[in-house]
Amino acid sequence: MDQLIKVFATGPLPKQVKEKLARFADLKSWEEPTEISEEHLLEQIKDRTAVICLLGDKMSAEVMDAAPELKLIANVAVGFDNVDLVHAKKRGILVVNTPGVLDNATADLAFALLLACARRIVEADQYVRNHEWQGWRTDLLLGSELSGKTLGIVGMGRIGEAMARRGLGFGMKIIYTRKGNEEKDHRLTRELSARRVSLPELISSSDFISIHSPLNHETRHLIGKVELSRVKKHCILINTARGAVVDQKALIAALQDGKLAGAGLDVFEDEPKVPDELIALKNVVIVPHIGSATSETRTAMANLAMEGLLTAFSERLPENTVNKDVWPLFLERLKVGASR
Ligand code: GLV
Repeated sequence: MDQLIKVFATGPLPKQVKEKLARFADLKSWEEPTEISEEHLLEQIKDRTAVICLLGDKMSAEVMDAAPELKLIANVAVGFDNVDLVHAKKRGILVVNTPGVLDNATADLAFALLLACARRIVEADQYVRNHEWQGWRTDLLLGSELSGKTLGIVGMGRIGEAMARRGLGFGMKIIYTRKGNEEKDHRLTRELSARRVSLPELISSSDFISIHSPLNHETRHLIGKVELSRVKKHCILINTARGAVVDQKALIAALQDGKLAGAGLDVFEDEPKVPDELIALKNVVIVPHIGSATSETRTAMANLAMEGLLTAFSERLPENTVNKDVWPLFLERLKVGASR
């Protein structure tokens, strides 16, 4: 590394990540308990060559342009819909993310939401706390069984597959949608007896639908009014991906009308805002975007983001690069920076 990397981290980093980074970089970080505002971000980033950011930080053209020397964005998330990739390419800014290290944690949470909805755990907990429990009854808080039911996975990537394995362990049948060639489908059929179907087929034949697609221009509102009008009567929807993959207004209407029996939601269209209409619904379990929130996973994510950053500044292409086509321009900018 020919030059000292000037890093700004938009949130606190684990101790060991901080210590390693400090050996190679001049590190500044946002340590406040609240998310950094755009105004502060614009100010803090000015003289920085790299930023380690979180999924709530909008890495817009304006933010990037506030930092003329910015060469790399390390997003501590696998999803990168918060980063303007078109502008990053124009500027020659490399973007790295954190794939692979959060699959189990996220699938655990998706399955926890699925179980919580199916067995009405939150409602039952409140029932006891409200001193409503009068005694055992055959019809008290009946939920639905998982065994033998169909779990439809929208987006069978790494996290979707981890979710499918959990479903299989509970005796569920797995169907899924995904993009890409058939080789992976053969393996998924062999290993999980899973079947790839079209989105309309998944929508109309699943008892539980779990969303695992990234958010991009093809998946925004992938599940909308039409899809929600075609689900099975007792269908429960789980979303741990990105809120905007589901049309939130249509989701609320489907839950209010009873078209959809329930939903387990970790993500929302305009986080951290959660509409009052959703909060008012008993058949919804809501958690604050904690899919990857285990100590092990959060450390691994920060570590992977940092390693991506250090690898790139050592002139080696990180495996976790989102925009590999920017690499030649990044290298060129690195050399210009070093010769100054
Ligand atoms: C979490 O939502 C992530 O994208 O890592």
